[in-house]
Amino acid sequence: MEKGTDYLQNALERREEDFEASLRPSGFDAFAGQPKTVERLRVMVGAARKRGDVLNHILLHGPPGLGKTTLAFILGNEMGAQVRVTSGPVIEKASDLAGLLTNLQEGDILFIDEIHRISRAVEEFLYSAMEDFRIDIMIDQGPNARSVRLNVPRFTLIGATTRTGLLTSPLRSRFTLQTRLDYYSRADLISIVRRSCDLLGVAIDKSGADEIARRSRGTPRIANNLIRFVRDFAEERAGGKITRDAAVSALELLEIDENGLDEMDKRMLRVMAQNYGGGPVGIGTIAVAVNEEADTLEEVHEPYLIQEGFVKRTPQGRVLTDKAWKVLGLDGISRQDSLF
Ligand SMILES: Nc1ncnc2c1ncn2[C@@H]1O[C@H](COP(=O)(O)OP(=O)(O)O)[C@@H](O)[C@H]1O
Ligand SMILES: [Mg+2]
Repeated sequence: MEKGTDYLQNALERREEDFEASLRPSGFDAFAGQPKTVERLRVMVGAARKRGDVLNHILLHGPPGLGKTTLAFILGNEMGAQVRVTSGPVIEKASDLAGLLTNLQEGDILFIDEIHRISRAVEEFLYSAMEDFRIDIMIDQGPNARSVRLNVPRFTLIGATTRTGLLTSPLRSRFTLQTRLDYYSRADLISIVRRSCDLLGVAIDKSGADEIARRSRGTPRIANNLIRFVRDFAEERAGGKITRDAAVSALELLEIDENGLDEMDKRMLRVMAQNYGGGPVGIGTIAVAVNEEADTLEEVHEPYLIQEGFVKRTPQGRVLTDKAWKVLGLDGISRQDSLF
């Protein structure tokens, strides 16, 4: 029996998934941005279809909320293939993997989210499945132990990860394409916001869409979530339409940073300013100070701070830019203070 709170949590997560699914573009045409990745995928899909072949294995990497799951489903639609979804931590034993693989049909897509969290023991079985479409598993133990070869239907593995650094190179090298998703430009986010509002039947004007896009940290998932609250706000307080004023007031009420920075982004900047005089400071040192793993900072948080010009990487370490000092509200004087 689910406990009350688990039940509630699960119900909330299901609602969250339904919401995401309802806004998910189903083909490349409705997928904004990521021109390089989309072009690469279109080429592979086009070629596989012409040859009547199975799509080659693909690794999608990049920070959360940028469209990895969405692309896996788009690839399924474009190939006319079924998508089976699982995730790294769920596949604990070789037999879990064998079960998944032998239930696939020719041409199916197996989507493994968080593939960096797959166990080493399972990983080796994945190699042969990807390369030779078969796995050799041991059954029984002791004197009866023997290896059984299972043939696996030709399938496509799509792996998604926020942390490519944690993938072993033998696994990485078995993907024909490894492609990285980047934070979205303002223009692409605006078009995503407008599309989501259309689908949700929410009235929004250009300046309202611009404001939401600006505060979305380059991330469609965040944009879609902000739309929900701003829509409620507009209905309750602003006559129903999302205008700039409505968006600004709503997002201020949520204490969403004007620059779209999240809590961890801001903690990194503050630590660099207050503890290290703005740097240069190593990522490992920052990680200890903010109590987060260095890999996560490097792969999830830092790329946005660098792209937006808050942090620079130098050979000596990370350095805050003037823009960051301004955002932190520390002027030249306190900056000097912190240096001595
Ligand atoms: N390029 C895009 N165009 C429109 N919507 C997008 C795009 N990328 C992501 N989204 C939306 O953002 C949400 C999160 O995307 P998702 O694929 O789940 O991200 P990830 O798997 O990388 O964490 C989904 O609801 C999806 O509809
Ligand atoms: Mg995902």
